[in-house]
Amino acid sequence: MRTRIVKACGDPVLDGGIMEQAARIIKEGGLVAIPTETVYGLAGDALNPDSARKIYEAKGRPSDNPLIVHIAREEDMDAIAKDIPDEAYAAAERFWPGPLTMVLYKKDIVPYETTGGLDTVAVRFPENPIAREFILAAGGYIAAPSANLSGRPSCTTAEHCRQDLDGRIEMIIDGGEVGIGLESTIVDMTVKPPCILRQGYINEAMLQEVLRDVGSDDAGHEVPDDSRPKAPGMKYRHYSPKGKLCIVQGERDSVISEINRLIREKESRGYRAAVITSDEDKDRYDIKAPVMVIGSLDDEDMIAHRLFSILRELDDMGIEYIYSESFDTPRLGKAIMDRMLRASGNNVIRI
Ligand code: TXA
Ligand code: MG
Repeated sequence: MRTRIVKACGDPVLDGGIMEQAARIIKEGGLVAIPTETVYGLAGDALNPDSARKIYEAKGRPSDNPLIVHIAREEDMDAIAKDIPDEAYAAAERFWPGPLTMVLYKKDIVPYETTGGLDTVAVRFPENPIAREFILAAGGYIAAPSANLSGRPSCTTAEHCRQDLDGRIEMIIDGGEVGIGLESTIVDMTVKPPCILRQGYINEAMLQEVLRDVGSDDAGHEVPDDSRPKAPGMKYRHYSPKGKLCIVQGERDSVISEINRLIREKESRGYRAAVITSDEDKDRYDIKAPVMVIGSLDDEDMIAHRLFSILRELDDMGIEYIYSESFDTPRLGKAIMDRMLRASGNNVIRI
């Protein structure tokens, strides 16, 4: 299959029929990678079981891992979900369009292929204008996991989508770099109190403003393989760069000297190693190895934004061992560290 890559700037007049062509692909059961404000998504028709099957195949993803259904009008939540609690309407009012996904009981119209066999459906109303226009043009209900191959870091540019999906899907809509760079926050609204299944840009404190009480399922990191976790995707290895990632935690000076030591040791044995650090610490590494600067510790949005693309850059450079500082920042630290711990397979050195 030839994958068409088209540039979109979000202006339907300038985009000369791209949306119509993309919508036609979806209605005919094909797949299109689209930008959202979080990460790129791999879109198919959420109400067509064959589209869900194709998504699993294109991503190389196990079919018991449910897909998020994307809508572009708040009222469309009622068409695919039932027994919706008042709190879900309040959260939708406050955070949609935006990076919040809510798990609700599904209506029959949503096929089990889309929900990985579950009686619940994850619903998200993205904010990105290209995504919204696309969803409406394509029929209103779009299943879209992150557009990476299963297990790889999520895609924050169209080029990342091309690297993973060229030849596997009909079209990639290039909407430039995404804004946030981490996937949406997922909240299970079928339990009381609602429970955060995946940390994201909308953090616990923000949710508490409308949900009063909200729990979180941070145990997700060490779920044994035979259990059925609440967000089934959380049991799979995630975001993994090809190199072995290790997170070094502890007092800042000790972390830096330990990473310096580890990298020198790996290099002396002929391996290619690199460090992920902050603007503030970048000059404290006395090594020949690449020093990847993720951003300033004062700019946690930038750290979130850069994380997946740095992991991909390190892959492109053929790095075998990656040592990273922790970025446990006040607002997004939980979401950033969740992704980093998964990417490392919980490979942490505490000193
Ligand atoms: O920001 C995002 O959410 C991106 C963009 C493209 O919208 N999408 C995304 O999808 O991250 P994906 O498939 O990579 O991650 C969805 C997660 C998976 O861990 C999946 O198991 C969980 O959501 N999930 C989906 N439906 C669920 C359900 N009914 N109950 C519990 N977890 C669910
Ligand atoms: Mg994903």
